Amino acid sequence: MNQNSIALVTGGSRGLGKDMALNLARRGINIIITYQQNKDKANQTVQELEQLQVKALALHLNLSDTSTIPVFVSTLKNALLNHFQTSHFDYLINNAGMGATVPFEQVTEALFDEFLNVHFKSVYFLTQQCIPIINNGGCVINISSGTTRYCNPGYSVYSSMKGALEVFTRYVAKELGHKGIRANVVAPGPIETDFNHGAIRNNPLMKERLAGLSPLGRVGVAEDIGSVVAFLCSEEARWINGQRIEVSGGINL
Ligand SMILES: NC(=O)c1ccc[n+]([C@@H]2O[C@H](COP(=O)([O-])OP(=O)(O)OC[C@H]3O[C@@H](n4cnc5c(N)ncnc54)[C@H](OP(=O)(O)O)[C@@H]3O)[C@@H](O)[C@H]2O)c1
Repeated sequence: MNQNSIALVTGGSRGLGKDMALNLARRGINIIITYQQNKDKANQTVQELEQLQVKALALHLNLSDTSTIPVFVSTLKNALLNHFQTSHFDYLINNAGMGATVPFEQVTEALFDEFLNVHFKSVYFLTQQCIPIINNGGCVINISSGTTRYCNPGYSVYSSMKGALEVFTRYVAKELGHKGIRANVVAPGPIETDFNHGAIRNNPLMKERLAGLSPLGRVGVAEDIGSVVAFLCSEEARWINGQRIEVSGGINL
């Protein structure tokens, strides 16, 4: 990790992605975040990143529509040249995503396709198209979920896509090792963010139930995750490859 390194954090405008971006910036990494709708929050995050004396930029990305990925990558290439005076970046953090609690028997094909696009298909092709502009020695981190290990009713679509993402990560690690590029999964447990319409943060009963499933007696906060992602990008983590690191406080052991 050198002072000219650059990380792309999708969904870095708020929540977990914002904390990842801040932790990377504290290590001197320049940051590109993406947002889907919330440009104001993205701009506010860019300002906070710049206060940490790194270069920062926000780009629009819509993972719901896979046809927009090549356009995004083209915008990214221009941004790298114009804002960072380079053609390559170092760390791809595939974090952006959304949640919904829908019982298996009520899942529609449209919902399935939305989750497929956002959590798997767009991430797959975004990663594929970014690899040529990731420096040798860089890394890919895919954000999955604790719910690929344990089952949370209503999460069948979401968690199935995250499971696919975990398999994909191992293939990236296998096929890109020759470039010195590592790939790992970070799988958070329940975290009180805006995720799934703030379901965990805004529902005291649910929060208490989930806290009770953890030996540490609480749900997570965004600040529990970002430092782990920053560590995985660092030289200290150079021998961690193709792994799923669950960051959940040991929920449902
Ligand atoms: N919070 C949890 O309990 C939890 C647990 C396990 C895993 N995760 C995973 O962690 C990641 C981040 O979650 P979070 O809690 O930080 O959520 P969040 O606070 O709701 O933030 C979501 C981020 O993703 C962006 N985004 C949402 N839909 C998008 C789309 N279709 N295309 C592009 N960007 C999109 C949002 O952009 P805008 O701001 O523009 O809307 C925002 O930056 C997700 O992959 C989620 O599955 C979360």
